[in-house]
Amino acid sequence: MAKYFHVADSTALAITAAERMLTLIRANPGRIAICLTGGSSPKQLYQLLATDAYARRIPWDRTHWFIGDERFVPPSDSRNNMATARGIFLDRLAPKDHIHPIPTDAADPDEAARRYERELQAFYGSGDFDPARPLFDFVLMGVGPDGHTASLFPGYPALDETRRWVVGVPEAHVEPFVPRVTLTLPALASCREMLFEVAGKEKHAILTRLSENEGLPANRARSIGETVLLVDQAAMGE
Ligand code: 6PG
Repeated sequence: MAKYFHVADSTALAITAAERMLTLIRANPGRIAICLTGGSSPKQLYQLLATDAYARRIPWDRTHWFIGDERFVPPSDSRNNMATARGIFLDRLAPKDHIHPIPTDAADPDEAARRYERELQAFYGSGDFDPARPLFDFVLMGVGPDGHTASLFPGYPALDETRRWVVGVPEAHVEPFVPRVTLTLPALASCREMLFEVAGKEKHAILTRLSENEGLPANRARSIGETVLLVDQAAMGE
């Protein structure tokens, strides 16, 4: 079951997300893995992590940064998800070899997916998930207007993938209409906490559908640990 937490606005939402992420970081004295997300929702959180007050609370030397999905465009393209996170905070603060982008210089999205899957499995040290040892400490997610999350769109075969950790998605269901590469539900699930950021009045309609338990991708993405939806008042329709 996912837990819903209500916050006042997008600023409170970014602060709550940052504090929850730091709680997970504090709980792990070893190597930490964080899976970031794309879209506009996480930008305020990334800006917060870039501030001295937050940056000094992150053990950069033992924290690794991944991305849950990518638009199949080069890092120089402003629509590239990892490039957005790098530009806001990672390039200045994280060791370069701790930043793990999806390789969009691959021949096609499927080849990029296979390469990223190999990278994740090498990092994890196995091709099989052990529930006692989640791949990620923290997975950040957003929700699209059609209920997609990561690049797992309603009715697409990627949603039912049980074996692969990462797959190519030839066509997006919403803008930007570029091919995607996405982690699958089992890979995203292998975490201590999965946190959805849901802010703004434009999310009200989809939030209503999610809270009615419609079988949308964002309702099927669940952590083996804790799943949290952080929702602001505008998304609540207040
Ligand atoms: C992407 C995303 C996607 C996003 C949602 C919400 O690459 O587009 O990872 O799943 O999180 O579409 O997007 P917004 O935050 O822009 O509303």
